[in-house]
Amino acid sequence: MLPHLLPLVLAASTALAIDPFINATVYAPRPNTTVSYARTETLPDGSLLAVWNSFSENNESLPIYRSRDDGKTWSPHGRAHTDVPGRRLVQPHLLWVNASAGFRGWDDDGALLLAVNAADNRSTNIEIYGSRDWGRSFEFVSRVASGGRGNTTNGATPVWEPFLMVHERKLICYYSDQRDREHGQKLAHQTSTEDFDSWGSVINDVAFTNYTDRPGMTTVVKMGNGQFILTFEYAHIIDSNDTYKYPIYYKLSYDPENFGTADSHKLIPDNPDALPNGGPTVAWTPWGGANGTIIVSDSDSNPVWTNQMLGKGIWKEIQTSAGRSYSKEMRIPYNDNTKLRITGGAEYDQVGPSKVQVTILDLGKALNQTA
Ligand SMILES: *[C@@H]1O[C@H](CO)[C@@H](O)[C@H](O)[C@H]1NC(C)=O
Ligand SMILES: *[C@@H]1O[C@H](CO)[C@@H](O)[C@H](O)[C@H]1NC(C)=O
Ligand SMILES: *[C@@H]1O[C@H](CO)[C@@H](O)[C@H](O)[C@H]1NC(C)=O
Ligand SMILES: *[C@@H]1O[C@H](CO)[C@@H](O)[C@H](O)[C@H]1NC(C)=O
Ligand SMILES: *[C@@H]1O[C@H](CO)[C@@H](O)[C@H](O)[C@H]1NC(C)=O
Ligand SMILES: *[C@@H]1O[C@H](CO)[C@@H](O)[C@H](O)[C@H]1NC(C)=O
Ligand SMILES: *[C@@H]1O[C@H](CO)[C@@H](O)[C@H](O)[C@H]1NC(C)=O
Ligand SMILES: *[C@@H]1O[C@H](CO)[C@@H](O)[C@H](O)[C@H]1NC(C)=O
Ligand SMILES: *[C@@H]1O[C@H](CO)[C@@H](O)[C@H](O)[C@H]1NC(C)=O
Repeated sequence: MLPHLLPLVLAASTALAIDPFINATVYAPRPNTTVSYARTETLPDGSLLAVWNSFSENNESLPIYRSRDDGKTWSPHGRAHTDVPGRRLVQPHLLWVNASAGFRGWDDDGALLLAVNAADNRSTNIEIYGSRDWGRSFEFVSRVASGGRGNTTNGATPVWEPFLMVHERKLICYYSDQRDREHGQKLAHQTSTEDFDSWGSVINDVAFTNYTDRPGMTTVVKMGNGQFILTFEYAHIIDSNDTYKYPIYYKLSYDPENFGTADSHKLIPDNPDALPNGGPTVAWTPWGGANGTIIVSDSDSNPVWTNQMLGKGIWKEIQTSAGRSYSKEMRIPYNDNTKLRITGGAEYDQVGPSKVQVTILDLGKALNQTA
């Protein structure tokens, strides 16, 4: 029933504009706990789910919260957990998969998928969990990749930071991979065609010839011209002290399973003082002209950067009130493509109190543009 209902529900809601707001609280943890790396997803009824990363607080279970008012107010909704003692589910990413995506065994009402890094003191594991009840409970579905324990030193072999996307009846799982002896870290993906159970071979997306380069943190979105943009932090050594910087780069490809041969472009802001650094995420909205608007964030800046040339040229800086946060999420609300939803938590290495918060930004006002 739901598959037929779905487009109607979404279509009926498209006229509802969202009033902008700043820093609505999703979750405020107990003191001394750091929450970051928030991710959201829209359910077929238009409500939102949120999930986030807490290395210190989550044990075996990962909390899911829900909002029925475009992100203004939130309440506990569900949990995902691992049965493996000592493991934490971190670096989550949620994806609703429509029935129309046609996956065998999961195709009745659609499914909510959750990709995580299931990590303990011996290993890291990119795992997929699935929910048939819109995020209240999850079952383990499959393990995409396993690596050594979390350790960002080159030569160690962990895997990190999964990101899911459906494309042509395939589920793609992008992640960061330190297992390849030729690369301190690279970005790769694997693909599942039928049931989310079996995964194809590791395909490189961003792998530089310089061993010490550590591209990280893939996110991908499709643009109106059919191209996909993949953003990443291009971690590389910038001085003789082995200091790493994390400028933001991106690749463009019509085939999201074939970024490997595409050129890497540096994100160059119109503000020469801006230094986008670490943990980018990307969103695209059809609003803003024939090419729509791409929005990219980083972890270290208050502003975000926009591009209305399908990734060509320089990027316009827009101010936000959301504050800095590690790997904050950029999303376009399904019911209002003139707005940007920013969901974030603590800054990288933050020690003080942190919260998961949502901000809705008016893109027209931010860009001083009416169409
Ligand atoms: C938070 O950390 C401070 C400083 O380390 C400590 O004094 C305090 O007891 C901690 N509070 C809680 C609730 O753990
Ligand atoms: C795991 O965390 C949840 C909430 O954060 C808590 O309710 C539960 O008791 C914890 N479980 C264990 C085994 O510590
Ligand atoms: C790893 O975790 C297990 C289970 O939580 C614990 O018993 C063991 O002592 C830990 N080992 C190390 C080296 O931390
Ligand atoms: C699910 O269907 C809706 C409505 O047709 C569409 O906007 C959305 O992109 C679809 N999502 C996926 C993951 O295919
Ligand atoms: C991290 O990896 C490096 C390189 O393999 C290794 O030398 C180091 O002992 C590892 N550290 C930990 C804490 O496992
Ligand atoms: C690789 O990176 C290191 C550190 O920045 C640099 O010294 C070296 O010249 C680079 N090698 C190549 C081939 O670019
Ligand atoms: C390397 O580190 C040393 C000691 O902190 C410092 O004196 C020196 O200026 C640094 N060199 C560079 C190129 O940053
Ligand atoms: C769309 O982007 C292309 C470059 O990718 C550019 O040539 C063109 O002018 C842009 N169109 C508009 C309306 O900005
Ligand atoms: C929103 O929260 C962030 C992080 O706590 C903070 O840096 C920022 O100043 C807040 N914005 C406003 C307008 O209060």
